[in-house]
Amino acid sequence: MEKVRYGVIGLRMGGAHTKGIFENEKAELVAICDTDSVLMEKVAELYHPKRTTENWEDIVNAPDIDAVVVATPDQWHEAMTVAALEKGKHVICEKPMALSLDECIHMIEASKRTGKKLMVGQVCRYAPAFVKAKEMVESGTIGELYFVESEYAHDYIRSRGVGEWRLDSRRHGILGGGCHAMDLLCWIAGKPEEVFAYANHKMLRDWPTDDTTIAVMKYPNGVIGKVFCSISCKRTYTMRSVFYGSKGTIICDNTSPEMTLFIEDKEPEKIPVDIKNHNVSAEMIEMTNAILEDREPATTGYDGAYTVAACLAAVKSSKTGVPVKIRYPQ
Ligand SMILES: NC(=O)c1ccc[n+]([C@@H]2O[C@H](COP(=O)([O-])OP(=O)(O)OC[C@H]3O[C@@H](n4cnc5c(N)ncnc54)[C@H](O)[C@@H]3O)[C@@H](O)[C@H]2O)c1
Repeated sequence: MEKVRYGVIGLRMGGAHTKGIFENEKAELVAICDTDSVLMEKVAELYHPKRTTENWEDIVNAPDIDAVVVATPDQWHEAMTVAALEKGKHVICEKPMALSLDECIHMIEASKRTGKKLMVGQVCRYAPAFVKAKEMVESGTIGELYFVESEYAHDYIRSRGVGEWRLDSRRHGILGGGCHAMDLLCWIAGKPEEVFAYANHKMLRDWPTDDTTIAVMKYPNGVIGKVFCSISCKRTYTMRSVFYGSKGTIICDNTSPEMTLFIEDKEPEKIPVDIKNHNVSAEMIEMTNAILEDREPATTGYDGAYTVAACLAAVKSSKTGVPVKIRYPQ
């Protein structure tokens, strides 16, 4: 195979994937799909797919498509992903992978059964500041890690989405958006073992879930960590994240042009970084290369499911008032 031939389902977030495919010389945009025909025409004018369709099954059934982007509302992720895998396509599915662990497990099982690749779009793993922070932690720049924190601070009042599908009692803030911060810490500190969380519901009062959560986790090697998630805060979007080690500390986020490195008693160092907070093009390069090189993509179905498991355990803890051991799919 010289090029990966893609179909994209869902074109609001999926517009970024479509652009990533259009710009990638190893990828070809075969077809795009959205039930909103006006939006679909706009995306088609920009990126020139061979075909457009309002029926997602046309994408999963197409013999000339190798890989499918599932960028529809979360409630569709499992059905579309499993159908595409069963029809012999590789799949990259948006985050959160699904709204329940059972759905995630069905998606992983379908990938194993069919031998087709499944990647989950945890896009923070491609934000330059977070890539650099991970490299520094792994190379020992800040010594031995002991505390990690990340926040997802967003105001969803302006981003209900089409059809208000975010107002689902299963889509807690810590799962829908907080999964970015939870995934970032999983990626850098490892899978958390236990979580304790508090949540409240003081801002988006007409939404069916809590809007603010603080989750405190135990990570491997005695590292402790915290995720703060608010989907209704009155400030600009940020994922400010801090990594504390025995020799130094890194402060970074995905919306600022520099990160700060503190090493022992030296002057703090400001390191310039690209912002690229939603670096979906890099994600599409990874998916395309994984298919062409016939290897696992960087963020597998298991990785997506681990993050969902950690987020749902935080919800359970916030509801029960006790710490919850996190159970991961095997
Ligand atoms: N990685 C990120 O940072 C990020 C950011 C935003 C959204 N997302 C994720 O992307 C997904 C979509 O979110 P969004 O913000 O684009 O939502 P949205 O509501 O803004 O748009 C959803 C789009 O999907 C289309 N659609 C819905 N059902 C469809 C169907 N059955 N067939 C074809 N098209 C259908 C809608 O017409 C709409 O254009 C969600 O899973 C969300 O969590 C990820």
